[in-house]
Amino acid sequence: MTPRETRSSTADLFADAPTEPRSEALVSGAVVLRAFAIPYVTQIFTALRTITAAAPFRHMVTPGGFEMSVAMTNCGAYGWVTDRTGYRYTADDPESGLPWPSLPEAFGQLAVAAAAAAGFGGFAPDACLINRYAAGTRLSLHQDRNERDFDAPIVSVSLGLPAIFLFGGARRADRAQRVPLWHGDVVVWGGPARLHYHGVLPLAAGEHSITGPYRFNLTLRKAV
Ligand code: SIN
Ligand code: FE2
Repeated sequence: MTPRETRSSTADLFADAPTEPRSEALVSGAVVLRAFAIPYVTQIFTALRTITAAAPFRHMVTPGGFEMSVAMTNCGAYGWVTDRTGYRYTADDPESGLPWPSLPEAFGQLAVAAAAAAGFGGFAPDACLINRYAAGTRLSLHQDRNERDFDAPIVSVSLGLPAIFLFGGARRADRAQRVPLWHGDVVVWGGPARLHYHGVLPLAAGEHSITGPYRFNLTLRKAV
């Protein structure tokens, strides 16, 4: 644990999984929409099977040469990739040379509805990064800044095992809030919070009735 994180045990943070939709502000421009994705879950997992058959999960390499512990794939017109040459969006999956699988209608509908519920009308996502976390997988603090402009928000959908999301400030050193995220929760950040640092603490081992030993996260973005 680093000093900028709030001190409280993971067990305490996971105590109460919200079952009713409600919205919780994190900072101006960032909100957690509890259970917002629940009505879309069946369609999401049906679509995920098709997507990952065409574009399987893989562990990408950072420009510094480290293999990411998060397994990733994409759907939509553009997909986020990293390799030794840097971070960027591509129209094709570098593994297959084929276009990324298209964005399922349910993903688009969920993202537009969540963005609107958070106060961002007219969201038109063209990219969806799909992350898969196993026990111990983490995502270090980073900004989402490979998109062409920062007017559109980021919509992040949590599925499966719970995780502790870190939501910090505009500077890396700013204290990060620890936000437990459960199956079906959606986080939206944009406007004044668009470039805030965020990450995920190492996933605790567990078993989820739908996703087994994994947590999945979809982040819908307007890349281009
Ligand atoms: C991300 O920042 O791309 C993913 C965040 C998450 O997994 O909740
Ligand atoms: Fe991110």
